[in-house]
Amino acid sequence: MKTFKDVFGSAPEIMASAPGRVNLLGEHTDYQGGFVLPTAIPQRATVGIGRNGTGIHVLYSANLEQTLHVPVGEVGEDFAPYLTGCLNLSGVTEGLNVYVTSQVPSGGLSSSAALEVATLRALRELYSLELDDVALALRGVQVEHEFVGVNCGVMDQMASSLADTRTLLLIDTRSLERRAVPFPAGAEVLVMDSGVPRRLAESGYNERRAQVEEAARLLGIRELRDVTDIGAVETLPSPLRERARHVVSENARVLEGLEADAATFGALMNATHASLRDDYAVSHPLVDDLVALLQAHPDVLGARITGAGFGGAVVALVRDGTAAAVGEAILTDYGTLGRVVVP
Ligand code: GLA
Repeated sequence: MKTFKDVFGSAPEIMASAPGRVNLLGEHTDYQGGFVLPTAIPQRATVGIGRNGTGIHVLYSANLEQTLHVPVGEVGEDFAPYLTGCLNLSGVTEGLNVYVTSQVPSGGLSSSAALEVATLRALRELYSLELDDVALALRGVQVEHEFVGVNCGVMDQMASSLADTRTLLLIDTRSLERRAVPFPAGAEVLVMDSGVPRRLAESGYNERRAQVEEAARLLGIRELRDVTDIGAVETLPSPLRERARHVVSENARVLEGLEADAATFGALMNATHASLRDDYAVSHPLVDDLVALLQAHPDVLGARITGAGFGGAVVALVRDGTAAAVGEAILTDYGTLGRVVVP
C-alpha cells in the first residue's frame, strides 16, 4: 500500500486516527433522543495531512487507490465530501494534501465517522482548533448532514471520538451525557461482516428517520424518547406504528441492559434483532441467516444486526474466551461471504 510520502513526495505534517464502533444496544434511537451503548473496535481510519501551497486539495484514498482534486472551498464527489466537509466546516482556506487509509470495514461499523473524526483530529492539531472531543464529534455529524446527505444521529461520531475498546459507552443522545459501562461479566464481543453490501442504505435511513419524526409529531411529543404510554404507539397507522414500536422498545432495552447479567443482555440483543427485522425493516435475509446461526451456537448469549442495517455487520455477545472459535465455526456454516472482524 502506498504511503503519504509515496503519493506526495514528502512526509505529512500531521497524522491522526480514529476507531470504528460497534453498537451493542440502542439501534436507531439516536435521532429520537434515546440511549445508545456502543464500544470502539480496534480497526481505525488514519489520515495524513500536509499543506501543498496551491488552491487545490489533493485527496488520496489508499483503500481505493484513487486521487481526487477539489478546489479549496468546494465539495467534490466520491469519497471527497467526507473530507472536504471537514475542511470546509473547519475554515480551511489553503490547499491540502490529504491521505486516508482505513481498516474499518464499510457497513455497520462507522467507517465514515472514523474517517471524519480522524480528519477533524488532524485538522485540530494542524490549526490548533479549539474543539473538544464532543464538539469535534458534532462537527462530524454536521459533515454527514450537510455534505454527505445522511441525516444520521450523533452516536457514531460520539463513539469514534470518545469510546475505547475496553468499555461500553452509554450515551444519552439528547443531553450528550455519557458514562463508561463495563461489558457484562463473563462475556466478550464477536463482530462479523455478513458480506452483504448495503443497498439503498442512505435513502432507507433517511426514510426511517422521517417516519419516526412523523410518528412523534402525531403523538404530540418532541421525540419518541418521550413516550410514556406505549399503548399510544399502537394507535398509529402502519408502518409508523411498527417503526415507533421499535424505537420505544429499543430505548427501554438499553436501560434494561445496564442492569443485566450477560445472559439477559444477550437476550436483549436477540430481541433487538427481531425488532430491527420485523418492526424497523432494516435487516436482510442473509444477515438474518447469519444471526440465526450465531443465536443457535451454545457459546453465544445473543446476536443481532448492528449499525444502520440493510446488510453489513452483526454483533454477538459470547462466553469469555470463545469469540475466535465461535467466529470460525459460524463461518464454516455461513460460507465465504462472511468474515470475522473482532477478535
Ligand atoms: C447509523 C447512523 C447512527 C445511528 C445508526 C443506527 O450508523 O449514523 O447515527 O442512527 O445508524 O442506530
